[in-house]
Amino acid sequence: MKAKILGKLSIDKNKIKNEISVIEESGFDDAYKEYSIGKWRTKSIWNQNGINGEAISKEYCGHAKRTFFSNQLTYINEIISKNFNTKYIKSVRVLNSCENGMIFPHKDYLEFKKGFNRVHVVLYTDKNCLNSEKDTIYHMRAGEVWYVDGSNIHSAMSLSEKGKFTLIIDFCPDISLEKIFSRNSSVVKDNIEPFVKYDREPLSEDFINSFYLISKTANEKMLPNIMGILNYWHFYYDLSHKDYFKILDKAFLNHENILVSKKYKSSRSMLIESGYVMGQV
Ligand SMILES: [Fe+2]
Repeated sequence: MKAKILGKLSIDKNKIKNEISVIEESGFDDAYKEYSIGKWRTKSIWNQNGINGEAISKEYCGHAKRTFFSNQLTYINEIISKNFNTKYIKSVRVLNSCENGMIFPHKDYLEFKKGFNRVHVVLYTDKNCLNSEKDTIYHMRAGEVWYVDGSNIHSAMSLSEKGKFTLIIDFCPDISLEKIFSRNSSVVKDNIEPFVKYDREPLSEDFINSFYLISKTANEKMLPNIMGILNYWHFYYDLSHKDYFKILDKAFLNHENILVSKKYKSSRSMLIESGYVMGQV
């Protein structure tokens, strides 16, 4: 697994709870919906122009500005400014996922020249919020600062009602990871063992055959939810991302409903071949 813990921060539960309420009341941005189903929501708080709602990642010269909305997030801005080298930051987004919200297995930066050094800072979570990279399922604990390498296929889901709130900070791709931290950073960089979930049962042939049966009933609107069943199984049964796409290919590449196979092909391309193009899926 290329994802790794860079360190740990202490998060003030009351302060973060208050700012989560501010974010929830203001609503979320419309970005990257094609990658996810259920409650998987993003809010841009630092971006190229400091404009509310610009949540699509961009490669550009210079560093990110706080959005007008984020002036209300005193504590979250303090976490960012105190601990990280802001001159290298390209964007900061708040991610919230809950109530079975999930993101499909995908690769990052396919549409970019270089992409970013992407760091997750977990503000709030519980053990039902899981991430995965290739065949490894892991849980990011509150306060942990993770480097997530998007070049391997990865996915995530949050089963609980409250789910998780994470800062996704994109840094300039040309710097070493040591340089992302400010001189006064209070991130503790001791060796921290990641929380990895090893206890996945094998996925039975009966389950796989039942998936093929359900997939026959699909129309193009149902396709994301049916793909979601298999992503859910990936977290609880021993189903690799390689086999995830193998099963989907068998079910949908030559589906008898041509609209389903067309939608699957463009979704597959966005997820693991050519990356995000607005309006493609
Ligand atoms: Fe990703």
